[in-house]
Amino acid sequence: MNACTGRRAALAGALDRAARLVPRAEAKLLLVHAAGIGHARLAAHPELELASDALERYEDWIARRAGGEPIAYLLGWREFYGRRFRVADAVLIPRPETELLVDCALAVVRALARSSRIADLGTGSGAIAVSLALEQPEAQVWASDASGAALDIARENAQALGARVRFRQGAWFAAFDPGSRFDLVVSNPPYVAEGDPHLANGDLRREPRAALVAGPDGLSEIRRIVRDAPAFLARSGQLLVEHGYDQAEQVREALRAAGFEAVRSWRDLAGIERVSGGSRGV
Ligand SMILES: C[S@@+](CC[C@H](N)C(=O)[O-])C[C@H]1O[C@@H](n2cnc3c(N)ncnc32)[C@H](O)[C@@H]1O
Repeated sequence: MNACTGRRAALAGALDRAARLVPRAEAKLLLVHAAGIGHARLAAHPELELASDALERYEDWIARRAGGEPIAYLLGWREFYGRRFRVADAVLIPRPETELLVDCALAVVRALARSSRIADLGTGSGAIAVSLALEQPEAQVWASDASGAALDIARENAQALGARVRFRQGAWFAAFDPGSRFDLVVSNPPYVAEGDPHLANGDLRREPRAALVAGPDGLSEIRRIVRDAPAFLARSGQLLVEHGYDQAEQVREALRAAGFEAVRSWRDLAGIERVSGGSRGV
């Protein structure tokens, strides 16, 4: 049966059936979005009927979720830094821990007390670059990615949210003119080691491999960015990179080896060192 038959179902019945296939909390979340209602309405009126098109959408989502598709890809969006970003399977789903990188970046540019030039390398959905451009409107923000499909989504997000970001396609700094100098470079690059068992779990199974994996120890892309950053940083310019929960020490070492000063790491809300960075010096 399909939408044309006018098939309908009570919210409670649809939820109970879906909860046999996926965790109940996920079934509920998808139901409120398929029905276009809030959680409170679902709780207060489980007897309400789901229209046939919403029921069809809901059953499709539940089947795909049961097959491992991330909820963010089903809904088509994920919230980041208080805003809704469109996502699709060409981009990494923005993570809450990446908000720390935005916090650190804002602290750096606000301390500069002048208009700054910022580059976000490997922008994916544009979550970092767009958030920085909107939180710090006087900054000039560039963003790059190797993936044209990711850049299309990032551009869409910038336009939908009203952020002025200049997008460039290319591998890390190669996306920019060699004469470019930035006051701040931020990046959440791929940092999972090849063969890491986490790649077989959860959303990671469906996210682009090029957004996740970085060589045998997960550090190959971070090392490249750290190595090339000094040539693209203005005097006292800073580099901030997000990394894995157990990579902070190695990232600090790479930064010091590349000549960075005032090298340090920042902890996320779980107390884990998640962002490391340093200054190019004068
Ligand atoms: C971990 S994702 C981060 C996405 C986004 N910045 C975020 O935080 O949600 C890494 C991004 O780096 C991009 N990427 C991977 N290798 C790259 C390379 N060599 N040059 C430029 N971008 C690259 C991927 O396409 C992906 O969008």
